[in-house]
Amino acid sequence: MAETGKDISRAAKLLVAGHLVAIPTETVYGLSANALNEQAVLKIFEVKNRPHFDPLIVHVHQKKAVNKYAVLEDARLIALADAFWPGPLTLLLPKKGNISDLITSGLPQVAIRVPNHALTLELIKSINLPLAAPSANPFGYVSPTTPTHVEKQLGAKIPYILDGGSCNIGLESTIVGIEDNKVCIFRLGGLSLEAIEKVCGPVERRVNNSSNPKAPGQLQSHYAPKKPLIIGDIEELVKKNISKKTAILCFGNKIYSHHKNVVIFNLSARADVEEAALNLFKYLRLADESEAELVICEKIPEHGLGRAINDRLQRAATR
Ligand code: TXA
Ligand code: MG
Repeated sequence: MAETGKDISRAAKLLVAGHLVAIPTETVYGLSANALNEQAVLKIFEVKNRPHFDPLIVHVHQKKAVNKYAVLEDARLIALADAFWPGPLTLLLPKKGNISDLITSGLPQVAIRVPNHALTLELIKSINLPLAAPSANPFGYVSPTTPTHVEKQLGAKIPYILDGGSCNIGLESTIVGIEDNKVCIFRLGGLSLEAIEKVCGPVERRVNNSSNPKAPGQLQSHYAPKKPLIIGDIEELVKKNISKKTAILCFGNKIYSHHKNVVIFNLSARADVEEAALNLFKYLRLADESEAELVICEKIPEHGLGRAINDRLQRAATR
């Protein structure tokens, strides 16, 4: 079992000594290591069982620190950083020599962000080191949004979980970069497309769907519970699977209690996409832990964080 607590100096000592610490952010919990220590970064891949072709996000405590590790010169990306950091925005930037190929999987750009969580910002500031941190879950599984989620899956493999409570967004950061001189979104996430476009005008979605992508967070099958998950019309799917124990993941003011054999998780009864984002990973985990053999869900409206939720559901459904 990992120790769980709010002791920043304990977390700091462990990180400086090359150990891993789970850290809270506003999006999801991260599994962090000193980004400048290759041995420590290697441990992240081992503990997560993560393939080395999947690059890591580097976390710093303020925009000014970015220039030590990457080149932030594009005016559009600077405007996004000014508008949304600290917050759920990750920028893809040309890397500097002190960022190893291990972190970027050999790519010339590094993913970097300033997370919005007081404990983690204080931690990074106190050690004055960048933290490499993927989501703190085994590779391919649903991201953790509470210390308990981290403990259940990685507790035996790490010494410390910094307890910052439940994440208040619940979806990973939105990844943005420049390609062909256009601002592009590479992963939909906790910052909406609308919010980004307000700052820098129309952006392109280069959300990769191939099974061998450059940015592996975009693997077709990812963010997945262990149980099969199907997306569609809930009433129809329940009827088709009448003999099976089913978990329903729904949205809005719906009543499915007339069905037998089902356990119901409503992502947001008041049809609020942000509330649904907060509940998504928690409910996917509960559905996985329930007696259900099958998870049935519906698409939610394609606006705001709804797009990122549908993206995660689609990847969770793909096997
Ligand atoms: O909200 C988040 O982004 C969380 C918290 C902990 O910060 N982190 C997170 O990390 O979701 P992870 O490793 O689960 O997903 C990061 C994804 C990678 O899978 C990859 O697709 C993309 O970011 N990525 C990282 N570095 C990249 C790079 N140099 N070029 C392209 N994509 C990159
Ligand atoms: Mg992840």
